[in-house]
Amino acid sequence: LPDLFLRACRREPVERTPVWIMRQAGRSLPEYRALRERHDFLTCCRTPELACEITLQPVRRLGVDAAILFSDILVPLPEMGVGVEFGPGPRIERPLRSRADVEALRAPDAREATPFVMEAVRLLRRELRVPLIGFAGGPFTLATYLVEGGATRSFAEIKSLLFSDPATAHLLLERCAATVASSLAEQVRAGAQAAMLFDTWAGVLSPEDFRAFALPYARRVFAAVVEAGDDHRGGVPRIYYAGETAGLLGSLAEVGAEVVGLDWRVDLGEARRRLGPQLAVQGNLDPAVLLGPPELIRRRVAGVLRGARVGDGGHGPAGPALGHVFNLGHGILPTTPPENARALVEAVREQSSAAEAPLGPAARRSEP
Ligand code: CP3
Repeated sequence: LPDLFLRACRREPVERTPVWIMRQAGRSLPEYRALRERHDFLTCCRTPELACEITLQPVRRLGVDAAILFSDILVPLPEMGVGVEFGPGPRIERPLRSRADVEALRAPDAREATPFVMEAVRLLRRELRVPLIGFAGGPFTLATYLVEGGATRSFAEIKSLLFSDPATAHLLLERCAATVASSLAEQVRAGAQAAMLFDTWAGVLSPEDFRAFALPYARRVFAAVVEAGDDHRGGVPRIYYAGETAGLLGSLAEVGAEVVGLDWRVDLGEARRRLGPQLAVQGNLDPAVLLGPPELIRRRVAGVLRGARVGDGGHGPAGPALGHVFNLGHGILPTTPPENARALVEAVREQSSAAEAPLGPAARRSEP
């Protein structure tokens, strides 16, 4: 079923719910850790053969229905003029502190700044039988790292910039949006079959500030993706993920994506009712459930699948939901046993395959 994931993104009928796992390529897999003993993280990102191999690892081991390019949202930073290190958490060498710092920031063309990314995409398209997701960081999330310099709990530096010098904040967000737009559009031109924005930190904003500082810039990126996707049959599905969006559901339809990622803090059925049937959803199992026993994983998978059918605009309680891509609500935890990730994939497969397909006899009988 090579295009199951793409069909679910477009809200077309599916035989079962497709599943992939955020951060599936990475530290939860022993084969990734083995490779990392010989190569540092940025070398893995910058070497197409290594990035390709790491992208394939979870496809082989877990049997997921989509691959996500191995890279990082902070990979464009050095060519913007900002050094970054991973230990493994990211550390920005010189966080932006002034108007002059922001003005000095470059918005590079991805073909010159990160050609290795597009090379990895081209290599992968020759190897893969499932769709390849290209990705980039949301402009607001990128701006947050540039100003905060690393992990933060209060977001005091970025919010201080937003509220005390909005003009500089907007200039920074524009540079980030231009960089990200080029990165994602070029991945699509190189062959990525879906385009995802990770706007991890956008959920720390109030609804009003989300609409001012995150939404318009994400929209701009997706507009560039639409243009780049012209050559693909049916266009390239756009996916927007931000953490803690329960308070932002009213705005998510305007972000310019046809799929929105949701975390586990929101009930999937309730979220779908609020979002409306025209949006597909991706999510939203708590990643920590994979630290529990297989029996618990199966039960919680059933709950997510049930929620996904509420308000999906489809044919009611039987069969896979329309417009649902199963995923975790955030990245897989590094300590997750790979066999539990595998159990998740198998549970989604078994439980979402209807005895009768969505356009099978049951659905037809109910039509006038
Ligand atoms: O499998 C995949 O999802 C593809 C690869 C991928 C990575 N980072 C690899 C990585 C993706 C999609 C990302 C996205 C990313 N990076 C986000 C958004 C998604 C999210 O989880 O919220 C963010 C906020 C980052 C920034 C970042 N990079 C962090 C917070 C870290 C810390 C370590 C970690 O694993 O969370 C990184 C480093 C990083 N990115 C690693 C990997 C595999 C670990 C580095 C190592 O191997 O030492």
